[in-house]
Amino acid sequence: MAINLQQFLAKQLSDGVIDQQLCDLLNAVADLSKEINDKVTHGALAGVLGFAGTDNVQGEHQKKLDVITNEIFVEGVEWTGALAGMASEEMDHCLPTPAAYKRGKYLIMFDPLDGSSNIDINAPIGTIFSITKAPEGKIADESFLTPGRKQIAAGYVMYSPQTILTLTVGNGVFMFTLNLGTGEYILKTTKENIRIPVQTQEFAINMSNMRHWEAPVQKYVQELLAGDTGPLGKNFNMRWVAAMVAEVHRVLCRGGIFMYPRDNRDPSKPGKLRLMYEANPMSFLIEQAGGKATNGYQNILDLQPEKLHQRVAVFLGSAEEVERVTSYHE
Ligand code: AHG
Ligand code: MN
Ligand code: MN
Repeated sequence: MAINLQQFLAKQLSDGVIDQQLCDLLNAVADLSKEINDKVTHGALAGVLGFAGTDNVQGEHQKKLDVITNEIFVEGVEWTGALAGMASEEMDHCLPTPAAYKRGKYLIMFDPLDGSSNIDINAPIGTIFSITKAPEGKIADESFLTPGRKQIAAGYVMYSPQTILTLTVGNGVFMFTLNLGTGEYILKTTKENIRIPVQTQEFAINMSNMRHWEAPVQKYVQELLAGDTGPLGKNFNMRWVAAMVAEVHRVLCRGGIFMYPRDNRDPSKPGKLRLMYEANPMSFLIEQAGGKATNGYQNILDLQPEKLHQRVAVFLGSAEEVERVTSYHE
């Protein structure tokens, strides 16, 4: 039988997996994602395409939707009473819960709009979030720097032909499809408790950066390309959607390895993806589905974060291939 997200969360609450604040927070995230979905699907009709004319703290030109979705996210969760603070890709520093609202026990970190280069071409985009326990006392950027292993919940919403919310609260991975008619997120029994196949014949990497990669990644990708004539003895297919949400979704659905390695384009940027609101939540989902996620050397979830907007190399997906490319780094 199909149940909706509210019913699913109520069951997790009564089973003692989550508490009331987390339940309220996750319902609020689901609700705000419907508003984002509305903006995204109306595109030009809602006047949300194109650049905002501003840069974020990472020096990236913000799209209008980066800014709009950040506002929707902040306003969608700040009032819940579940948060001591929040941090976003699009905000230089964290935002402690405003005095007007009750302080809660959690922190949320988010990428309000993942895959910004896809917005104006109507390709898949998403929203990613990571929830941790807040420390006591005043909330500052440092309060967010706990290893991904300590996450309480994580997930993403993917806006594509279907709008899908994928969630873990630490007991598996569950996917809910938005029914636009009723506004409900429905858990389809076929998408319950996702498991990633251990083996795969599909990889995803931005090949245009090949000449900038480090030697172990060069070697591994050469082997993938060599297919059944090389040491791996099988052919590989390739995909690149340019939105981590879409790549991770594909890996969760049918396996694969997704890579965004460090490269030598800019020494200040070890990797492109951000640890706190991209790599950590996605690695939590991947591990919960039986996959692996490393930075080439260590499990991503075990890394001790140093900065809120820190970047990290990412290799995630089907265990056998992630273990192989990780072993090449040793
Ligand atoms: P964001 O839009 O939040 O800045 O993230 C984009 C990231 C990630 O989602 C994707 O995997 C990658 O950038 C795409 O990178 P390329 O531009 O190298 O394709
Ligand atoms: Mn992103
Ligand atoms: Mn983003």
